[in-house]
Amino acid sequence: MSFCRITGTGGYLPGAPVSNHDLVARGIETSDEWIADRTGIRFRHFAAEHEHSSDLALNASRKALEMAGREASEVDLIIVATSTPDQVFPSTACLLQHKLGNRAATAFDVQAVCSGFVYALTIAEKFIRSGSHKCALVVGAEVFSRILDWNDRGTCVLFGDGAGAVVLEASSEPGILSSALHADGHYHDILSVPGQVCNGSVAGKPLLQMDGQAVFKFAVRVLGDTAVELMQAAELPMTALDWLVPHQANIRILQSTAKRLDMSMDKVITTVAEHGNTSAASVPLALDIAVRDGRIKRGQNVMLEGVGGGFTWGGVLLRF
Ligand code: ACO
Repeated sequence: MSFCRITGTGGYLPGAPVSNHDLVARGIETSDEWIADRTGIRFRHFAAEHEHSSDLALNASRKALEMAGREASEVDLIIVATSTPDQVFPSTACLLQHKLGNRAATAFDVQAVCSGFVYALTIAEKFIRSGSHKCALVVGAEVFSRILDWNDRGTCVLFGDGAGAVVLEASSEPGILSSALHADGHYHDILSVPGQVCNGSVAGKPLLQMDGQAVFKFAVRVLGDTAVELMQAAELPMTALDWLVPHQANIRILQSTAKRLDMSMDKVITTVAEHGNTSAASVPLALDIAVRDGRIKRGQNVMLEGVGGGFTWGGVLLRF
């Protein structure tokens, strides 16, 4: 069995940053102070009408492939994590494959909402370690602006659009040290988009709804528990962790998680102020930013963590 490691990262945010003040100017009954105090969010990006998840994914994927020094034709596995696919089918992964000009890779989507990227990365790792595939493109891409209820100020101010990607390749040295994926459908209704396509129209409410306080408590608990689980599985003390790259939902969730783990916020990569919550894209986007600005370096221990609708949660501990 071979190991695997990340050889390239990429990110893409559409359009210009939209500030909290811009949301007020668009008629949402909120304020910069309320959003920044409760969530840490100051900006988010929104895709143009003609841009879909596969377009954002394409931009992020090109950057990740460039960093890895790989051509799209060398990729033999494409997994896209998204809850906002371009179409009901084909999968966004197949649409991305087409846009990349690749005609040979295995391609499919993963739907685990804000945990989607860590689910997709863990699946890709298992394909590569089995020896069946050698070069995977793993992407988180979302246009959450399309599923927001703009009359619900408690949720519409939290989210943005974007994509992040990594290239994961077979390696003789371990890159991924441990991983864990969890779900508990008992909590299906604290964060959901309960609509569906039915007989040519939409049945149910196709907009995001959330019990914010229940989500907050759940996220802090499982992000903390998963971090301990991943370090124990790799037989490493928490002090051996160089960087935590958690799902970017809310700065207070990240601060509470760090406190629970007795970890300095200096070790936590945060992009929520500039990006808002980009669901499956948030972890690879944050990873890409910290790799490109030089904070995350080769050989460091990095933990990626996701939590989101389902409820789903999990993480990947890797030696970068
Ligand atoms: N602007 C101004 N006022 C607002 C806004 C807003 N955007 N939204 C809600 N309010 C008001 C409410 O109407 C309410 O007013 P009232 O007291 O007069 O009734 C007051 O603020 C408090 O509302 P709550 O909903 O109780 O606010 P809360 O303190 O719970 O904060 C928040 C809401 C920020 C969403 C919080 O629950 C939270 O951080 N939850 C975590 C959820 C999260 O981050 N989800 C992301 C998706 S899940 C994931 O990615 C894991």
